[in-house]
Amino acid sequence: MQSELRKKLLDAFTNHDDDYLSGQYLADLIGCSRTAVWKHVEELRKEGFELEAVRRKGYRIVKTPENVTADDIRLGLKTKFIGQSIHYKESVDSTQKIAHRLAYDDAPEGTVVIAEEQLLGRGRMDRAWHSPKYSGIWMSIILRPNLPIPKAPQLTLLTAVAVVQAIEEITSLSPQIKWPNDILMNGKKVTGILTELQAEADRIISIIIGIGINVNQKREEYPDELKDIATSLSIESGEQINRSVLIRGIFNRLEHLYEIYLENGFYPIKLLWESYAISIGKTITARTLNHTIRGKALGITEDGVLQIEDEEGKIHSVYSADIDL
Ligand code: BTN
Repeated sequence: MQSELRKKLLDAFTNHDDDYLSGQYLADLIGCSRTAVWKHVEELRKEGFELEAVRRKGYRIVKTPENVTADDIRLGLKTKFIGQSIHYKESVDSTQKIAHRLAYDDAPEGTVVIAEEQLLGRGRMDRAWHSPKYSGIWMSIILRPNLPIPKAPQLTLLTAVAVVQAIEEITSLSPQIKWPNDILMNGKKVTGILTELQAEADRIISIIIGIGINVNQKREEYPDELKDIATSLSIESGEQINRSVLIRGIFNRLEHLYEIYLENGFYPIKLLWESYAISIGKTITARTLNHTIRGKALGITEDGVLQIEDEEGKIHSVYSADIDL
């Protein structure tokens, strides 16, 4: 089905919640015959959508597919730009790599690359990121804020808030953030965020936000080296999570916070971030490339820099480090 028609059809179901939509109504809306509508509906069924058809009433979507599809994500998406263009792939090296190329080729702000599996998923500090098929969310989002380069880390922190809020919204879980960008459940990592820039002189041209969320992996599926440090939303909640719903929640939250940020600056985001942060007020160890600092985490600055007060009362600004609690 042409994607524009598909979008119109899904938008119609989105805007009418649980209502039945008649074949004639959909045909007029899309600008095709009722037989063509029926064909489109059959295509949706093949993708895993369950549609109920009732005589004299019309069609209603009763269940969406288990697999992530771009169409399924679009159903109910309320954003203006984030997720309005989705590049969905079955298997890739890394969604970051594809998003970089798209950004370079002028892809619009809000373009997203989502893959079911990454063969060479990357984390911070060039570490590998385990991205098994069908069980997680591996995606990269392109933003184009008109900001100076030093402000980029603020968007990582903003993204962490959006992800935590979306997880809270659709599960029973209350995850916490470990500076700068790890989202934890019971001390184990459920989400990592990797922010990369395309910049010119002193301005950001585009920022590629890579988000990796462990969603439906089972404990026994984790490789031994990750068992003690990583977990999934499903392990923690005891439920199977619908990934499309979570992705959509993240897009909605992210766009909302991003607009607040562009209008009002970082302060409101900083307050939210600190309310979810695990380490503030606690004694932590920060391992940077060159040294190790132990002390009390005081909070973050306007620039997203972590402030640690050591035993002698000296305050250290930490820009990049691994944190042990
Ligand atoms: C980290 O905690 O080290 C960051 C992990 C970021 C992983 C995501 S998954 C989608 C995107 N593509 C990648 O290769 N990495 C990011």
